[in-house]
Amino acid sequence: MIRLRLLGAGTLLMLSLAGCGPAGAGGGGAPNGTLLFYDACSNCHASDARGTDLGPDLTVQASDMTPDEIVDVILNGAGTMSPLDLTEDEADAVAVYLIETFL
Ligand code: HEC
Repeated sequence: MIRLRLLGAGTLLMLSLAGCGPAGAGGGGAPNGTLLFYDACSNCHASDARGTDLGPDLTVQASDMTPDEIVDVILNGAGTMSPLDLTEDEADAVAVYLIETFL
């Protein structure tokens, strides 16, 4: 009887852990650069990084930037781009995704 109840609680806990967290937030895993880029960057830079009316084409503008420089832009802003509300780990994941995928 007691054992059965414990089993039930364990299953419930596992289910709620598996369903947790938006892009990069919580869950304990590494932040997901792809999802974070879509979430935090694509409305201005487009999902293919080629820019919109709100932000420049990063395949041009960021082509010579290092990961550290891109992290700095994300956390501190640059020119007319405001700093974004990401952690350093999240910014890092976005920078890696950006460079590996588009630059
Ligand atoms: C609200 C719109 C907006 C969002 C959201 C945004 N950017 Fe920008 N970004 C800009 C604008 C505008 C510029 C051009 C700034 C300038 O040159 O004055 C820019 C410039 C940049 C640059 C080039 C900076 C430089 O020094 O030339 C990088 C790299 C960049 N953005 C990366 C990102 C990344 C990565 C994200 C998501 C984490 C992001 N941006 C989200 C608007 C945005």
